[in-house]
Amino acid sequence: MAGWNLGAGLEGKGVIVTGATGGIGRPVAEAFAATGARVMAVGRDHAKLESLVAGLDGEGHIAEVADLADLESHDRLVDRALNELGGLYVLANLAAVLRRRDSVEDVTEEDWDSQHDLNLKAAFFLCRSAARAMVEAGQGGRIVTFTSQSWWTGGFGGSVVYSASKGGVVSMTRGLARTYGPHRITVNSVSPGQAHTDMLMTDLNPEVYEAMKAATPLGYVAEPEETRAASFFWRANMPATSRGPLSTSVVVS
Ligand SMILES: NC(=O)c1ccc[n+]([C@@H]2O[C@H](COP(=O)([O-])OP(=O)(O)OC[C@H]3O[C@@H](n4cnc5c(N)ncnc54)[C@H](O)[C@@H]3O)[C@@H](O)[C@H]2O)c1
Repeated sequence: MAGWNLGAGLEGKGVIVTGATGGIGRPVAEAFAATGARVMAVGRDHAKLESLVAGLDGEGHIAEVADLADLESHDRLVDRALNELGGLYVLANLAAVLRRRDSVEDVTEEDWDSQHDLNLKAAFFLCRSAARAMVEAGQGGRIVTFTSQSWWTGGFGGSVVYSASKGGVVSMTRGLARTYGPHRITVNSVSPGQAHTDMLMTDLNPEVYEAMKAATPLGYVAEPEETRAASFFWRANMPATSRGPLSTSVVVS
């Protein structure tokens, strides 16, 4: 991926990307690799992970199969990153699920639990595992969570429960930013609008899709690659003090 390196200061640094084989996760993993970072790509599908890692720029990248809803997987993958990437400087946590239901009457307890278990609960515990390792290393770090425009719109196309979980991600991110700021670990959240990925398009009513598109100022649904712009947050050479320790959400599409 020539041409993507903003002098991010990440050469040789360890980066964990979850949801790495997803629509947005893939270009995010590629963008990190292009900065010279060493990427641990985390996902559920071994073959897809191996193929992603094989195609990344640079060297030292590894694939990790994990079900992040299983909290016991977190310390294991952080330890592996420390041992095999030579340290951990960035966690970009993209893994999430969206289960659309046409009517809130159709939402089951299992729908609620599965989305909150991964999108919010696992996000908290994984961020904490990564932050612990960063604090221990004493070199600062970058944690990037992924929320959604739905955290404040309430979501479109049967995504009320998902949206609630993403609202939690914003609150959590702000709290963690205050917690870890003194350790020079910034915690920020990227809030995509809409990007053409499996998550957006699965079970989405075409009329809702058109309405969503029309509601966007540019009348446009982004391609996942465009979310690379969010790399602003994980640049190592941007002084944390330039923004203070508090987190910000940004809409990138
Ligand atoms: N695509 C959009 O329009 C959009 C909009 C707003 C926010 N987002 C957010 O951006 C991030 C990336 O979304 P995307 O569109 O690339 O989604 P995607 O569905 O393409 O990718 C999600 C990834 O999460 C992984 N995953 C799911 N369950 C997992 C589990 N239990 N353990 C480990 N990994 C698991 C999947 O394997 C997949 O690779 C998500 O946090 C999503 O909520 C996306």
